[in-house]
Amino acid sequence: MRISVIGCGYLGAVHAACMAHLGHEVVGIDVDHDKVRALAAGVSPIFEPNLDTILSSARESGRLTFSDDPAAAAGAQVHFVTVGTPQRKGENAADMTYVHAAVDALLPHLRPGDLVAGKSTVPVGTAALLAEKVAASGTGALVAWNPEFLREGFAVEDTLTPDRIVYGLPPAGATTVDGVPAQDHARRLLDEVYVSALEGGTPLVVTDYPTAELVKVSANAFLATKISFINAMAEIADATGADVTALADAIGHDTRIGRRFLNAGIGFGGGCLPKDIRAFAARAEELGKGESLAFLREVDAINLRRRQHVVDMVVDELGGDVVGRKVAILGLSFKPESDDIRDSPALDVAVRLKGLGADVVATDPHAILNSIRQHPQLGFATNTVDALFGADAIVLVTEWAEYRDLDPERVGELVRAKVVIDGRNALDPQRWADAGWTYRGMGRPGVAPRAARDEGATTQEAMAPA
Ligand code: UDX
Repeated sequence: MRISVIGCGYLGAVHAACMAHLGHEVVGIDVDHDKVRALAAGVSPIFEPNLDTILSSARESGRLTFSDDPAAAAGAQVHFVTVGTPQRKGENAADMTYVHAAVDALLPHLRPGDLVAGKSTVPVGTAALLAEKVAASGTGALVAWNPEFLREGFAVEDTLTPDRIVYGLPPAGATTVDGVPAQDHARRLLDEVYVSALEGGTPLVVTDYPTAELVKVSANAFLATKISFINAMAEIADATGADVTALADAIGHDTRIGRRFLNAGIGFGGGCLPKDIRAFAARAEELGKGESLAFLREVDAINLRRRQHVVDMVVDELGGDVVGRKVAILGLSFKPESDDIRDSPALDVAVRLKGLGADVVATDPHAILNSIRQHPQLGFATNTVDALFGADAIVLVTEWAEYRDLDPERVGELVRAKVVIDGRNALDPQRWADAGWTYRGMGRPGVAPRAARDEGATTQEAMAPA
């Protein structure tokens, strides 16, 4: 099947490469010439596991091309719209400029029966608006909504083997294509696109436009709520001496709750969850239903105060003043296995500490270049040892495997003071305490070194500065 993918950002680049990998003839279209050139050369513009491999194999197969000319979409039967919907400057609502521009650019190249399949995360009501626009163009093309749920770091895996597929189809009785009702025609095309996943048993939900649009934003709102819930529990744990990690394990055993997305820490970031919950709440207000999603404001507020919480902890551990003190920041991307720094809590913590006068030295396996472009005022180290050397405090803010696996004995030989703040509860507190570190986690009580405990000291005594 011939497919066009309009917008070759994170979502589009991965979608185009995966669709070609599955055997379709794909053209990826983007207005950014440099991006098109890189992708056409088989080079991924982002760090995403396995993307380079499938990009180059799809390219070698001759089934994947890229262009900056929307006319290249002509002849495709399904046109995926995968452009960004960022947060509008100074507002919570989504900026829909790119979605409308993409569809406008596509219109002159559509033929009767073509399907425009929206994948971008959009305010509910968008598909119907676009369907009106496409109908008014007289092209005889149709619109469907087909949200995407990929996670960064697992984008290829999630696209090739999604855990569900959702079609939002045109209203019944809308139009016909060669005598076939629009709904059936759109469904047939999408079934052909996703034939391998569907034959593999991937669950399919076939519904209408608004439900399909809402599935995406409500899934993200639920995930964000789950994270803020456990972070709120971390605040209560801090006030009571409880351990939020054990709490999450215990409640997570209830299959109605589930353990995933119950990791307390410095909160969620990235290009999706933060802006999506804000845009969703803003859309609810437009619909006169602001009250229904008022809790998302609280979810956002809990999330944002985690960042300052970590900063306050560093200030506290350094005796109330961080000016001139070396703070090693481990991690800059918004989560491991990604070089994405959009709304990264880790980077925000680094910037806040720098703003307080700390000598911040940050490192990350893949996100340093992106971070330098945005925050050249920060100090950077290209390897962990340089970041740690002479540090007065270490702050782990993105739980890359190489930071989880750090050996506290060896790290202890590099630093000036053995203070570690574990913003992701990724380290073993006992192991670090035993190696002589002051360990502070998120919603976890202090830990005494085993030797001190065996001698009968209380946690407080054992944790007290010498
Ligand atoms: C998210 C959704 O998971 C995905 O389905 C949607 O398509 C896009 O948005 P992504 O932004 O790639 O995907 O990241 P995700 O893995 O969901 O993590 C989001 C943030 O939450 C990260 O900053 C992560 O560190 C944080 N997080 C996640 C927690 O703080 N605690 C958790 O338990 C889980």
